[in-house]
This record gives sequence, C-alpha cells and structure tokens, in this order.
Amino acid sequence: MNDEPLVLLNPGPACTTERVRAALGRGDMCHRESEFTALLADLREGLVRCLNVAETHETVLVTGSGTSAMEMAVISSVREGRSLLVVNNGVYGDRLAKIARANGIPVTEVSGDWTTPIDPELVREALAADPSIDAVAMVFHETTTGLINPVRAVGAVVRDSEACFVVDAISATANEDEDLADIDADFICGTANKGLHALPGMSFILVSQKAVRRLYEVPTRSLYLNAATYLDGQRKGDVPFTPAVQVCFALDEAIKEFEERGGFAARTAEYRARADLVRKAVNDLGLKILVEPPHRSNAVTMIRLPEGVTYPTLHDELKAAGYVIYAGQGTLSKEFFRIATMGEIPWPKLERFVDVLGSTVHQLRSQG
Ligand SMILES: Cc1ncc(COP(=O)(O)O)c(C=O)c1O
Repeated sequence: MNDEPLVLLNPGPACTTERVRAALGRGDMCHRESEFTALLADLREGLVRCLNVAETHETVLVTGSGTSAMEMAVISSVREGRSLLVVNNGVYGDRLAKIARANGIPVTEVSGDWTTPIDPELVREALAADPSIDAVAMVFHETTTGLINPVRAVGAVVRDSEACFVVDAISATANEDEDLADIDADFICGTANKGLHALPGMSFILVSQKAVRRLYEVPTRSLYLNAATYLDGQRKGDVPFTPAVQVCFALDEAIKEFEERGGFAARTAEYRARADLVRKAVNDLGLKILVEPPHRSNAVTMIRLPEGVTYPTLHDELKAAGYVIYAGQGTLSKEFFRIATMGEIPWPKLERFVDVLGSTVHQLRSQG
C-alpha cells in the first residue's frame, strides 16, 4: 500500500479538497450567536443559488445524513387521512416507502425492475385511480444501480394533480444532466457530501411554495424532523437543535468552491467525462455494465464482476493500489460491483485507476 490517501470510488462520503477539510478548523462557534445566523443565511441562500432553484425554492437545513432529509420530506408532504405514491425501482425508492410506513402514512407503489426507468404513464394511472394520493415520491438517481429515473416527465404528470412531488436527489444534487430547475419538484432532498463535495453530517430539503403550504398542513409526526419548526426558525436565522457547526463551515466552503469552478454545468460535465473514461475502460475489458446507456447516471457505474473473480478479491487488490470500490446492493451484490466517480478525484488519479483496474482484472483472470 502506498502512502497516498485512498481515492474513494464509493457513492459518498466522497473525497474532498484540502480547502473544504481545512474549513473544519475555523474554530468554535455558538449556534445562538449572530455569526451562526449569518452562516445559516449564507448556506440557505447558497444552496438554492448554486443548485439553480433560487427563484422557486427555499432551503431547510437539517443536521443528519441524507435519510433525515428523505424522512423530513416524506412526513411533511402527506396530510392526515391521505396517502403517498412511491415510485420504487431500487433500494432508495424502497426506503421512501419504508419511511412512510414507519410513520403511519398509507403507501401505494409503482414498482419496476431495477434497471429500467419507471414509465411516467404508470404514475398518471395510479394518481387517477386513487384520489387519496397527496404526494408522489421518487428517486432521481438510484444509486443502487446507477439508473436515472425520468424525474422531469413524472414532475409534469404530478403537476396536473393536487399532489406534491417529492424527489430524492441525494446522489443527483449537483452532478446529473437534468437541472433541478426543470423538474418541477416540490420537495427536493439533498445532502452535503456527495456531488457538492462537502462533508457528511448536513442535509437539506429544498421546498417550493406549494411545499411550504403543505408542510404547515400536515400533522406533527416527528419532533426532530418537523419541517415547519425548522422553516419557522431558519427564516428568523435560528435552528431548533444543535447543528453540526463545523460541518456547516465545510459546506459553506464547498459551495464557494463549486461556484468558483463553474457551478452545476461545469460539475456535470466533469462527472460525465469521468464516467466516459471509466466506462470505456470497462468496455475494453469486456465487462458488462448493468444499466443501458441512455439511462446511466454520471456518477455511478454498476459492473458485472469478471468471470471467476469475487468482489472481496477485486476490492482488496484495488484497495492495496489506493482505490476503494463499492459492493452491489441486495440481490445484485454477488454478481456486480460499483464504481462511483463522485467527489474530489484529480483526473490523473482516475486515469491511473483505469490502468490499475485493467491490470488487476487481467491478473485475476489469469489466476482463475
Ligand atoms: C439516492 C440516495 N438516497 C438516500 C441515501 C441515504 O443517504 P444517507 O446514507 O446519507 O442517509 C443515499 C445514500 O447513498 C442515496 O444514494
């Protein structure tokens, strides 16, 4: 093993820059003081600005992992006696449904296989068939497989109804081709530590005006994750509970870095170029990519393991060379592995990775 830090090719926590990590050392700060109020305002404005939804959405920040943002959005979107329609074609779609059930919210599902985007017409039919549906929830980028779902088309279907549209954009916040501004979502869930290259610990929901009206109409289902409490407080520069202050510093720095480097368009192009490099190498090795080209994300590639090679062997060889790859989830874990090209990955390190992947696969094949 060399002394270089490991390059993380897992879908978050992603590698960060020295500048972002150094922000953790800005020092101690009381969250009830004016300095934190100013930081909170910068973060709330910065997030909607850098994600191109400043005209339509407002930020609600929460200390927690991405799942806390999902849970906050789900429980804030469905009124008493109404139900949630979940588009489920992967682990995170399934988690949206589980969150609703755990909170006593009735759920119906439009399910599909894990490699095919859901047909938006199925959502239209489900909405027409069940007037109790108050919100539709779906995952933008199913990190399970690297599949992009048709969020824009489903957004257009939901817009024709009274329902709110909840989108888990946790692995798609700053790095996929569809601009959040174009998808007409009411609740957008995001996290600091994937495409935004900040640190784990802070998450957020971005809420439209329709979502703001809705979150005041739902019953209080959670003390910690009650969006109305957060929104009331944050509009006044206050937070209800102790935030991860130093992780907020890092997020602040990451937003600055993101914008200085050209924002959404530049990052998306960078992620697309990385995916192209990895996928070309994988094709040259004759390995199958699970998802068909038009539906692939820019950030995650799910690949069939070479014949006769197990995931732990491949993982350990690549880790010894400085790269952390990621296992498949659920039923796909025996046959497939994932390469996530998220976070701070200098281009030469990625070029070296594809060389190392090639030589490792050749070596393991020759041993098998
Ligand atoms: C699409 C998606 N949603 C939700 C989550 C959950 O985020 P966390 O593990 O930060 O709670 C993830 C994590 O990878 C994800 O990829």
